[in-house]
Amino acid sequence: MQRDYGTTRKLSGQKMNKTSSNLPDKYLHQPVFLEEAVDGLNIFSGGTYVDATFGRGGHSAKILSRLGFDGKLIAIDKDPEAIEYAKALNDKRLSLYHGSFSELGNLLKSLKIEKVNGVLLDLGVSSPQIDSADRGFSFQKTGPLDMRMNTSSGQTVYEWLMGATLLQIEKVLKDFGDEKLSSFIAAELILRRDSKDCSARKQFPETTSDLADLVVSVIEGKRKRHYYKTHPATKTFQALRIFINNELEELEDLLEQIPMIVSHNGRLSVISFHSLEHRLVKFSMRPRKVQSNNYSTHPKRLGFFSDQDTIKFANCTIKEIKKIKPSRDNIQENPRSRSALLRVGEIICAEQE
Ligand SMILES: C[S@@+](CC[C@H](N)C(=O)[O-])C[C@H]1O[C@@H](n2cnc3c(N)ncnc32)[C@H](O)[C@@H]1O
Repeated sequence: MQRDYGTTRKLSGQKMNKTSSNLPDKYLHQPVFLEEAVDGLNIFSGGTYVDATFGRGGHSAKILSRLGFDGKLIAIDKDPEAIEYAKALNDKRLSLYHGSFSELGNLLKSLKIEKVNGVLLDLGVSSPQIDSADRGFSFQKTGPLDMRMNTSSGQTVYEWLMGATLLQIEKVLKDFGDEKLSSFIAAELILRRDSKDCSARKQFPETTSDLADLVVSVIEGKRKRHYYKTHPATKTFQALRIFINNELEELEDLLEQIPMIVSHNGRLSVISFHSLEHRLVKFSMRPRKVQSNNYSTHPKRLGFFSDQDTIKFANCTIKEIKKIKPSRDNIQENPRSRSALLRVGEIICAEQE
């Protein structure tokens, strides 16, 4: 993970204070469950906390406001723009890291921090990511078919579509978007991409609007009903975004690390936005007997924690202590919260009970 020492840098020559509300409007993201998720961390003033999805720092600013001078906040984001923005939060208690939150265990180890007191996760994309046409997340704005959160590495959606097979595309749309017409959309993409006929090939989508139009034409051709609650391309875009950013695997990876890197009675606050995320978070907090050595056998954990660490931390588990759905007022204030769910878990380690 790349370290960014951003505590002194100022953006656009503006005077920057400690809260995101003082930053330029075009970067704003209205956080979901701001108070509730930070309350869930049960912050004490000298604790060490992690905001694993910094975004535009709404939750980070709230955490900092509750920490004392000796508290610490580690903030992570895989989007270089979020990190660039974060440099404006001129606060000595804050350390910024560019990279995936699935590397958190390694990061803490390199910082010689054995355990932290809480981790906050606000999943999905930020408003600035969706609102910038050039990031390619939105079918409502014409932009390149990119959708990478980390623009400094990995394949764009366009690059992946150019090399994927019919079955791979179909599976992604079905598994990550639950798109019922996945086979037809995949077939249309392959037809246009591999056609010998130049005019058909020209229609292979290069922009978000091209792809949205292709999906609409396939769906309208298959369904008699032409009224949809959401845009017909919603599921396709969601599926491609989840896939291209490896979102579920990274989440699963981090959730597995939490019992080993958060202290006894420490907290995990997770805001999730769709059923695939809800399910993983719920599963990580399910009641279970501690004392398993699953962690040592997970291929990704090998060489990550030592055998001794594994034995020491295998006794810890996450217990769900709160689940909050958005109220009608929350949704009215912030429509993004419509599908959000906040789960708070407490880490319980058997030998310290
Ligand atoms: C919903 S936004 C967070 C908004 C933030 N809580 C705020 O108040 O401004 C989610 C952020 O998490 C980042 N993100 C998503 N998956 C990530 C991952 N695996 N590792 C690191 N950052 C990730 C995205 O780039 C995005 O900036």
